[in-house]
Amino acid sequence: MKRRILMGTAIAFGLALTTVSAIAEPPPLAQKDRYKVGFSQMESNNPWRIAETKSFHDTAEACNWDLIATDAAGSAAKQVADVDSMIAQGIDVLFLPPREEKPLIPAVMKAKAAGIPTFLVDRSVDPNVAKAGEDYVAFLGSDFIDQGRRVAEWTIENFKGDKGIIVELEGTTGSSPANDRKKGFDDRILQDDRFEIVASQTGDFARDLGRQVMETLLQAHPDVNIVYAHNDEMAIGAIQALELAGRKPGEDVLVVSIDGTRDALQAIIDGKMGVTVESSPFFGPLACEVMKRYAAGETIEPWVQVKDRIFTQENAADHIDEAY
Ligand code: AHR
Repeated sequence: MKRRILMGTAIAFGLALTTVSAIAEPPPLAQKDRYKVGFSQMESNNPWRIAETKSFHDTAEACNWDLIATDAAGSAAKQVADVDSMIAQGIDVLFLPPREEKPLIPAVMKAKAAGIPTFLVDRSVDPNVAKAGEDYVAFLGSDFIDQGRRVAEWTIENFKGDKGIIVELEGTTGSSPANDRKKGFDDRILQDDRFEIVASQTGDFARDLGRQVMETLLQAHPDVNIVYAHNDEMAIGAIQALELAGRKPGEDVLVVSIDGTRDALQAIIDGKMGVTVESSPFFGPLACEVMKRYAAGETIEPWVQVKDRIFTQENAADHIDEAY
Protein backbone atom coordinates (compact mmCIF):
# COMPACT_ATOMS: atom_id res chain seq x y z
CA MET A 1 0.00 0.00 0.00
CA LYS A 2 2.76 2.39 1.17
CA ARG A 3 4.76 1.48 -1.94
CA ARG A 4 1.79 2.26 -4.18
CA ILE A 5 1.33 5.69 -2.58
CA LEU A 6 5.05 6.44 -3.00
CA MET A 7 4.95 5.35 -6.64
CA GLY A 8 1.88 7.49 -7.24
CA THR A 9 3.62 10.51 -5.70
CA ALA A 10 6.74 9.92 -7.79
CA ILE A 11 4.69 9.66 -11.00
CA ALA A 12 2.76 12.84 -10.12
CA PHE A 13 6.05 14.70 -9.41
CA GLY A 14 7.56 13.43 -12.65
CA LEU A 15 4.48 14.55 -14.57
CA ALA A 16 4.62 17.97 -12.92
CA LEU A 17 8.28 18.40 -13.94
CA THR A 18 7.53 17.20 -17.48
CA THR A 19 4.63 19.63 -17.71
CA VAL A 20 6.76 22.57 -16.53
CA SER A 21 9.62 21.77 -18.92
CA ALA A 22 7.11 21.24 -21.73
CA ILE A 23 5.90 24.85 -21.33
CA ALA A 24 7.50 26.60 -24.28
CA GLU A 25 8.42 29.82 -22.52
CA PRO A 26 10.65 30.78 -19.61
CA PRO A 27 9.07 31.79 -16.29
CA PRO A 28 8.09 35.48 -16.02
CA LEU A 29 9.78 37.94 -13.67
CA ALA A 30 7.61 40.12 -11.43
CA GLN A 31 8.39 43.84 -11.09
CA LYS A 32 9.82 44.41 -7.62
CA ASP A 33 11.81 47.07 -5.76
CA ARG A 34 14.54 44.58 -4.82
CA TYR A 35 15.47 41.22 -6.27
CA LYS A 36 17.22 38.23 -4.82
CA VAL A 37 19.69 37.46 -7.61
CA GLY A 38 21.78 34.32 -8.05
CA PHE A 39 25.10 34.41 -9.89
CA SER A 40 26.73 31.00 -10.24
CA GLN A 41 30.39 31.47 -11.15
CA MET A 42 32.22 28.39 -12.51
CA GLU A 43 35.73 29.07 -11.14
CA SER A 44 37.89 31.95 -9.94
CA ASN A 45 41.34 30.88 -11.08
CA ASN A 46 41.96 33.63 -13.60
CA PRO A 47 41.61 37.41 -13.98
CA TRP A 48 38.71 37.08 -16.45
CA ARG A 49 36.50 35.16 -14.00
CA ILE A 50 37.46 37.45 -11.10
CA ALA A 51 36.57 40.52 -13.20
CA GLU A 52 33.21 39.00 -14.17
CA THR A 53 32.26 38.22 -10.56
CA LYS A 54 33.37 41.70 -9.48
CA SER A 55 31.20 43.21 -12.21
CA PHE A 56 28.12 41.49 -10.70
CA HIS A 57 29.06 42.63 -7.17
CA ASP A 58 29.69 46.19 -8.42
CA THR A 59 26.26 46.24 -10.10
CA ALA A 60 24.32 44.84 -7.14
CA GLU A 61 23.66 48.07 -5.22
CA ALA A 62 22.81 50.20 -8.26
CA CYS A 63 20.40 47.54 -9.56
CA ASN A 64 18.78 46.82 -6.16
CA TRP A 65 20.00 43.25 -6.00
CA ASP A 66 20.55 41.09 -2.96
CA LEU A 67 23.25 39.07 -4.67
CA ILE A 68 24.06 35.46 -3.87
CA ALA A 69 27.29 34.59 -5.71
CA THR A 70 28.82 31.12 -5.65
CA ASP A 71 32.06 29.65 -7.00
CA ALA A 72 32.01 26.11 -8.42
CA ALA A 73 35.84 25.86 -8.29
CA GLY A 74 36.08 24.37 -11.77
CA SER A 75 33.51 21.59 -11.27
CA ALA A 76 30.38 21.38 -13.42
CA ALA A 77 28.81 19.04 -10.82
CA LYS A 78 29.38 21.64 -8.09
CA GLN A 79 27.95 24.35 -10.32
CA VAL A 80 24.73 22.31 -10.67
CA ALA A 81 24.66 21.83 -6.88
CA ASP A 82 25.27 25.59 -6.37
CA VAL A 83 22.23 26.35 -8.53
CA ASP A 84 20.18 23.81 -6.52
CA SER A 85 21.15 25.64 -3.35
CA MET A 86 20.23 29.04 -4.81
CA ILE A 87 16.83 27.69 -5.89
CA ALA A 88 16.32 26.46 -2.31
CA GLN A 89 17.21 29.95 -1.05
CA GLY A 90 14.41 31.44 -3.14
CA ILE A 91 16.24 33.52 -5.74
CA ASP A 92 14.02 35.56 -8.10
CA VAL A 93 16.35 35.30 -11.09
CA LEU A 94 19.46 33.34 -12.07
CA PHE A 95 22.52 34.49 -14.02
CA LEU A 96 24.49 31.45 -15.11
CA PRO A 97 27.78 31.14 -17.00
CA PRO A 98 27.65 27.36 -17.70
CA ARG A 99 31.13 25.86 -17.45
CA GLU A 100 30.36 23.24 -20.09
CA GLU A 101 27.60 22.97 -22.70
CA LYS A 102 25.91 19.71 -21.63
CA PRO A 103 26.46 19.12 -17.88
CA LEU A 104 24.79 22.41 -16.91
CA ILE A 105 21.52 21.69 -18.73
CA PRO A 106 19.94 20.13 -15.58
CA ALA A 107 20.60 23.41 -13.73
CA VAL A 108 18.75 25.38 -16.42
CA MET A 109 15.83 22.94 -16.39
CA LYS A 110 15.57 22.86 -12.60
CA ALA A 111 15.49 26.65 -12.40
CA LYS A 112 12.72 26.66 -15.02
CA ALA A 113 10.77 24.00 -13.11
CA ALA A 114 11.10 26.13 -9.96
CA GLY A 115 9.65 29.16 -11.81
CA ILE A 116 12.95 31.07 -11.86
CA PRO A 117 13.90 32.86 -15.08
CA THR A 118 17.50 32.16 -16.12
CA PHE A 119 19.86 34.29 -18.21
CA LEU A 120 22.97 32.56 -19.53
CA VAL A 121 25.95 34.87 -19.36
CA ASP A 122 29.21 34.63 -21.33
CA ARG A 123 28.89 30.88 -22.14
CA SER A 124 25.99 28.90 -23.54
CA VAL A 125 24.53 25.39 -23.29
CA ASP A 126 23.81 22.88 -26.04
CA PRO A 127 21.10 24.56 -28.17
CA ASN A 128 19.73 21.18 -29.26
CA VAL A 129 18.68 20.45 -25.69
CA ALA A 130 17.88 23.77 -24.02
CA LYS A 131 16.63 26.80 -25.93
CA ALA A 132 16.60 30.55 -25.39
CA GLY A 133 13.06 31.93 -25.17
CA GLU A 134 11.83 28.52 -23.95
CA ASP A 135 14.03 27.00 -21.25
CA TYR A 136 15.94 30.15 -20.39
CA VAL A 137 15.29 33.77 -21.27
CA ALA A 138 18.36 34.69 -23.30
CA PHE A 139 22.09 34.29 -23.80
CA LEU A 140 24.13 37.42 -23.06
CA GLY A 141 27.54 37.17 -24.67
CA SER A 142 30.07 37.39 -27.47
CA ASP A 143 30.17 35.66 -30.83
CA PHE A 144 32.92 33.12 -30.11
CA ILE A 145 33.04 31.82 -33.70
CA ASP A 146 33.63 35.37 -34.90
CA GLN A 147 36.36 35.91 -32.30
CA GLY A 148 38.25 32.86 -33.63
CA ARG A 149 37.67 33.95 -37.21
CA ARG A 150 39.03 37.45 -36.47
CA VAL A 151 42.20 36.02 -34.91
CA ALA A 152 42.66 33.91 -38.06
CA GLU A 153 42.12 36.93 -40.36
CA TRP A 154 44.68 38.96 -38.41
CA THR A 155 47.17 36.06 -38.53
CA ILE A 156 46.73 35.65 -42.30
CA GLU A 157 47.37 39.37 -42.80
CA ASN A 158 50.29 39.70 -40.40
CA PHE A 159 52.28 36.45 -40.49
CA LYS A 160 55.50 37.20 -42.37
CA GLY A 161 56.87 33.67 -43.04
CA ASP A 162 56.29 31.30 -45.95
CA LYS A 163 54.80 28.45 -43.93
CA GLY A 164 52.78 28.91 -40.72
CA ILE A 165 53.11 25.91 -38.39
CA ILE A 166 50.42 26.30 -35.76
CA VAL A 167 49.95 24.90 -32.28
CA GLU A 168 46.44 25.52 -30.91
CA LEU A 169 45.75 25.63 -27.16
CA GLU A 170 42.08 24.88 -26.67
CA GLY A 171 39.86 26.04 -23.81
CA THR A 172 37.86 23.78 -21.48
CA THR A 173 36.70 20.68 -23.35
CA GLY A 174 32.94 20.75 -23.93
CA SER A 175 32.60 24.50 -23.30
CA SER A 176 30.97 26.78 -25.85
CA PRO A 177 33.97 29.15 -26.23
CA ALA A 178 36.37 26.24 -26.80
CA ASN A 179 34.08 24.66 -29.43
CA ASP A 180 33.32 27.92 -31.21
CA ARG A 181 36.74 29.59 -31.05
CA LYS A 182 38.21 26.44 -32.59
CA LYS A 183 35.65 26.35 -35.35
CA GLY A 184 35.99 30.06 -36.19
CA PHE A 185 39.79 29.97 -36.32
CA ASP A 186 40.31 26.56 -37.97
CA ASP A 187 37.73 27.10 -40.73
CA ARG A 188 39.25 30.44 -41.73
CA ILE A 189 42.98 29.73 -41.37
CA LEU A 190 42.80 26.44 -43.26
CA GLN A 191 41.34 28.21 -46.29
CA ASP A 192 44.89 29.53 -46.79
CA ASP A 193 47.32 26.74 -47.67
CA ARG A 194 50.26 28.62 -46.15
CA PHE A 195 49.00 27.39 -42.75
CA GLU A 196 48.93 24.01 -41.03
CA ILE A 197 47.68 23.14 -37.54
CA VAL A 198 50.10 20.49 -36.30
CA ALA A 199 48.63 20.08 -32.79
CA SER A 200 45.48 21.14 -30.96
CA GLN A 201 45.17 20.29 -27.28
CA THR A 202 43.26 21.57 -24.28
CA GLY A 203 44.89 23.82 -21.69
CA ASP A 204 41.52 24.25 -19.88
CA PHE A 205 41.72 28.08 -20.21
CA ALA A 206 44.39 28.03 -17.47
CA ARG A 207 47.81 29.71 -17.52
CA ASP A 208 49.77 26.94 -15.85
CA LEU A 209 48.22 24.13 -17.87
CA GLY A 210 48.77 26.21 -21.02
CA ARG A 211 52.45 26.45 -20.10
CA GLN A 212 52.75 22.70 -19.42
CA VAL A 213 50.95 21.69 -22.63
CA MET A 214 53.10 24.11 -24.64
CA GLU A 215 56.28 22.64 -23.11
CA THR A 216 55.21 19.15 -24.24
CA LEU A 217 54.04 20.24 -27.68
CA LEU A 218 57.27 22.17 -28.27
CA GLN A 219 59.23 18.94 -27.93
CA ALA A 220 57.03 17.17 -30.49
CA HIS A 221 56.89 20.22 -32.82
CA PRO A 222 60.07 22.28 -32.42
CA ASP A 223 59.39 24.00 -35.76
CA VAL A 224 56.17 25.69 -34.50
CA ASN A 225 56.07 29.39 -35.43
CA ILE A 226 52.47 30.32 -34.51
CA VAL A 227 50.60 29.69 -31.24
CA TYR A 228 46.85 30.28 -31.19
CA ALA A 229 45.48 30.16 -27.64
CA HIS A 230 41.71 30.25 -26.96
CA ASN A 231 42.35 32.74 -24.14
CA ASP A 232 45.01 35.12 -22.87
CA GLU A 233 45.88 33.09 -19.77
CA MET A 234 47.01 30.14 -21.90
CA ALA A 235 48.80 32.52 -24.28
CA ILE A 236 50.82 33.92 -21.37
CA GLY A 237 51.57 30.35 -20.21
CA ALA A 238 52.72 29.51 -23.76
CA ILE A 239 55.00 32.58 -23.82
CA GLN A 240 56.62 31.37 -20.58
CA ALA A 241 57.19 27.89 -22.10
CA LEU A 242 58.61 29.35 -25.30
CA GLU A 243 61.03 31.59 -23.40
CA LEU A 244 62.13 28.70 -21.17
CA ALA A 245 62.92 26.74 -24.34
CA GLY A 246 65.03 29.61 -25.66
CA ARG A 247 62.50 30.74 -28.26
CA LYS A 248 61.63 34.40 -28.83
CA PRO A 249 57.86 35.00 -28.78
CA GLY A 250 57.03 37.91 -31.04
CA GLU A 251 60.19 37.31 -33.12
CA ASP A 252 60.35 33.65 -34.10
CA VAL A 253 56.89 32.63 -32.82
CA LEU A 254 53.72 34.64 -33.35
CA VAL A 255 51.35 34.34 -30.36
CA VAL A 256 47.68 35.23 -30.94
CA SER A 257 44.77 34.97 -28.56
CA ILE A 258 41.40 36.15 -27.18
CA ASP A 259 40.21 38.15 -24.11
CA GLY A 260 42.06 41.47 -23.59
CA THR A 261 43.53 40.98 -20.11
CA ARG A 262 46.09 43.39 -18.67
CA ASP A 263 48.92 40.82 -18.99
CA ALA A 264 48.05 40.20 -22.64
CA LEU A 265 47.97 43.92 -23.46
CA GLN A 266 51.34 44.27 -21.71
CA ALA A 267 52.71 41.33 -23.76
CA ILE A 268 51.52 43.07 -26.94
CA ILE A 269 53.19 46.34 -25.84
CA ASP A 270 56.38 44.36 -25.07
CA GLY A 271 56.26 42.82 -28.57
CA LYS A 272 55.75 39.23 -27.34
CA MET A 273 52.17 38.82 -28.53
CA GLY A 274 50.57 39.87 -31.82
CA VAL A 275 46.87 40.28 -31.16
CA THR A 276 44.08 39.61 -28.72
CA VAL A 277 40.44 39.85 -29.76
CA GLU A 278 38.36 41.21 -26.90
CA SER A 279 35.94 39.05 -24.91
CA SER A 280 34.57 41.30 -22.19
CA PRO A 281 33.88 39.96 -18.67
CA PHE A 282 31.95 43.07 -17.58
CA PHE A 283 28.43 41.60 -17.66
CA GLY A 284 26.93 43.19 -14.53
CA PRO A 285 25.44 46.36 -16.11
CA LEU A 286 24.10 44.44 -19.14
CA ALA A 287 22.53 41.83 -16.84
CA CYS A 288 20.79 44.59 -14.89
CA GLU A 289 19.44 46.27 -18.02
CA VAL A 290 18.16 43.08 -19.67
CA MET A 291 16.59 41.83 -16.45
CA LYS A 292 14.69 45.12 -16.02
CA ARG A 293 13.43 44.94 -19.60
CA TYR A 294 12.22 41.39 -19.00
CA ALA A 295 10.46 42.31 -15.75
CA ALA A 296 8.72 45.14 -17.63
CA GLY A 297 7.20 42.55 -19.96
CA GLU A 298 9.48 43.00 -23.00
CA THR A 299 10.31 39.97 -25.13
CA ILE A 300 14.07 39.62 -24.97
CA GLU A 301 16.00 38.71 -28.10
CA PRO A 302 17.38 35.12 -27.72
CA TRP A 303 20.99 36.35 -28.04
CA VAL A 304 21.91 39.72 -26.54
CA GLN A 305 25.18 40.06 -28.39
CA VAL A 306 28.24 41.79 -26.98
CA LYS A 307 30.46 43.55 -29.53
CA ASP A 308 34.20 42.95 -29.21
CA ARG A 309 37.17 45.18 -30.01
CA ILE A 310 40.60 44.04 -31.19
CA PHE A 311 43.89 44.95 -29.46
CA THR A 312 47.22 45.13 -31.32
CA GLN A 313 50.49 47.12 -31.17
CA GLU A 314 48.49 50.07 -32.54
CA ASN A 315 46.13 50.51 -29.58
CA ALA A 316 47.17 48.24 -26.66
CA ALA A 317 48.80 51.10 -24.73
CA ASP A 318 45.60 53.19 -25.03
CA HIS A 319 43.55 50.46 -23.33
CA ILE A 320 45.85 48.93 -20.73
CA ASP A 321 44.55 51.17 -17.94
CA GLU A 322 41.01 49.88 -18.36
CA ALA A 323 42.14 46.23 -18.53
CA TYR A 324 41.86 43.73 -15.67
O1 AHR B 1 33.68 32.15 -21.43
C1 AHR B 1 34.66 33.09 -21.71
C2 AHR B 1 36.03 32.54 -21.45
O2 AHR B 1 36.09 31.94 -20.19
C3 AHR B 1 37.14 33.55 -21.42
O3 AHR B 1 37.69 33.80 -22.65
C4 AHR B 1 38.12 32.82 -20.57
O4 AHR B 1 39.25 33.54 -20.28
C5 AHR B 1 37.26 32.38 -19.50
O5 AHR B 1 37.70 31.49 -18.58
